[in-house]
Amino acid sequence: MSVSNHTTESVRERADIEEVVGDYVQLKKKGQNLWACCPFHNEKSPSFSVSPSKQIYKCFGCGKAGDSIQFVMDIEGIGFTEAIRHLAQKYGIEIEEEKNQSPEQIKALSEKERQYVILNYAKEHFSLNLETEEGRSIGLSYFRERGFNQQIISKFDLGYSIESWDHLLKAAKTAGFTPEELLKAGLVLERENQPGNYYDRFRGRVMFTVHNVGGKAIAFGARTLKKDKNQPKYINSPETEVYHKSDTLYGIFQAKQAIKAKDNCYLVEGYTDVLSLHLAGIENVVASSGTSLTESQIKLIKRFTDHVTVLYDGDAAGIKASLRGIDMLLEGGLHVKAVVFPDGEDPDSYAQKVGAEAFSEYLTTNTQDFIKFKIGLSLNEGKSDPIKKAETVRQIVQSIAKIPDPILRNFYVKEASLLMDLEEDLILIELNKASLKPKERNSTFPEERSPQFTEELLPVAPLDNRQSEQKQLMSQEREVLRLLINYGVEKIGEELHVCEYLIEETGELQFETPVFKNLFERYREALSKGIVPTAEYFLKTSDSELKKELIDMITQKYELSSLWESRHQIFTAREADNLAKTIYDSVLRLKKRVLKKMLHELLDKIKLSQDAEIADLQQVYMEIKRYQVEIDQQLGTVISH
Ligand code: CTP
Ligand code: MN
Repeated sequence: MSVSNHTTESVRERADIEEVVGDYVQLKKKGQNLWACCPFHNEKSPSFSVSPSKQIYKCFGCGKAGDSIQFVMDIEGIGFTEAIRHLAQKYGIEIEEEKNQSPEQIKALSEKERQYVILNYAKEHFSLNLETEEGRSIGLSYFRERGFNQQIISKFDLGYSIESWDHLLKAAKTAGFTPEELLKAGLVLERENQPGNYYDRFRGRVMFTVHNVGGKAIAFGARTLKKDKNQPKYINSPETEVYHKSDTLYGIFQAKQAIKAKDNCYLVEGYTDVLSLHLAGIENVVASSGTSLTESQIKLIKRFTDHVTVLYDGDAAGIKASLRGIDMLLEGGLHVKAVVFPDGEDPDSYAQKVGAEAFSEYLTTNTQDFIKFKIGLSLNEGKSDPIKKAETVRQIVQSIAKIPDPILRNFYVKEASLLMDLEEDLILIELNKASLKPKERNSTFPEERSPQFTEELLPVAPLDNRQSEQKQLMSQEREVLRLLINYGVEKIGEELHVCEYLIEETGELQFETPVFKNLFERYREALSKGIVPTAEYFLKTSDSELKKELIDMITQKYELSSLWESRHQIFTAREADNLAKTIYDSVLRLKKRVLKKMLHELLDKIKLSQDAEIADLQQVYMEIKRYQVEIDQQLGTVISH
């Protein structure tokens, strides 16, 4: 049922924006407004502001804005009516229910509300059972054995269900609930072929209450204490009107403040893992409850943080589950880390074994980003096997390809490149393959691994140093101009002069170094006037940098032929003897340098591009690569990086 306008107005009057927001984030006064890091998106410096005079909040980063009520709706992920109720409770305002609704609306709403009341009743019933003789000797003693103290028991509403067919049913009936309502809430079952004959779903088990993000009881997990292999370990509530397993994370209500404060969420598998972590003083933890993660669970986490650390068992099944989860989380745009526990241990057993302090310490020192985690897994299998390595790369790249944010994706490309000692562009090529054709790859050819792929990835080259590349480009420009200045007038071939050839071949390349660009343009200009200029022609210049370069170029010629030692004289003799080859090679080398630079610029562009453009850029990339190979062949060199 919704609340009356009067109640809404009272809430509006009382709910001060500073007080309401202050419950969730730490506000600092700066000028007229208060500031904090935005609780709705991840940021390092505050762009979330609260204006006490206007009674509004606004984030200049993500754009979220509104009044106190809107803030509660956003931060708690609840509807308007629920937000009013929440604030009314905070300020002790009496809630008047709205009467003017259609009978269907009232029925639908009240049914849901009634479900919450019933579930809350059941929760209290199971708690109180812990104080009965049976509850104490079986349920409570079990919790105590596992180290779950009174504080944890009440914080998580742990309980016990009496070993009986109708203990809850009877009590609930007495309290005024109908069996039909209890059935809808998943608390009782109807006997087969005996309509109207109900019995308790949970019997003789310890009870874990599942809360929604607002703290309401919505479901139960019931663990058996018997060794009987025919009994399921857990019996869980079915899907109901208020409980959708796939939207729920166990522990989110108890964890949300800590998740926000730590800006990280630990993800574990089971109820007991959550409890043991709380016991160890780690409160930012939720459980996926044994099933693989869903999109809405990830969205739920994202309301509080962008960072998840996956804590799964060290056994094969646990690792498999964590790998699936990791890809889902990456796809959801989260930063993912992982912790591996020693074989045979899960977070619960390990925390209980080593104690709170050592456990926290273990988390701190063993948290690794998902790439390291994945590399670690496959390196255990076969460290030096090149096929294995290529396979690892493929798997890691496929995970990276799932990351929607290009900047984060780029971060992981760098990380993977560093950790696996692979060139970034090799990873990028694979990444593009993975993101361009995910469907075909997965469905049609599940095991396909192109041979070309392994060949490409196997040569392991050190990372490029772009600065030294720039230097190499500059010195190759100098070399081409040195040849032009010194041998411009000479002939290579019947009719072809060095100057004609060099101008023709390098004309469209555009020299990058300003002083060389300048020299080249002046050379061309002189040539167009019918002069084949030599160094002397330019030496009148007042440009001291140009003068210095020119002098270097011509001294090199003379020195090479006369003053240098014999080793260099041989070289010089060759340079002059085989002038044609010297000139050809110098042009090829210059082109090679230019292409390399183009490739890198293209890669930078690819990294920042939308998926749609990447295909085209990749096309260009491959073309340049082919051209590069051609040049390498002409130079007679092996491909070098
Ligand atoms: N689970 C379930 N039904 C089962 C087994 C498991 O719903 N039959 C879910 C529960 O949410 C459980 C989680 O999967 O918490 C992890 O399973 P497991 O590790 O077997 O249970 P724990 O809760 O860790 O129990 P314990 O430590 O007591 O073995
Ligand atoms: Mn366990």
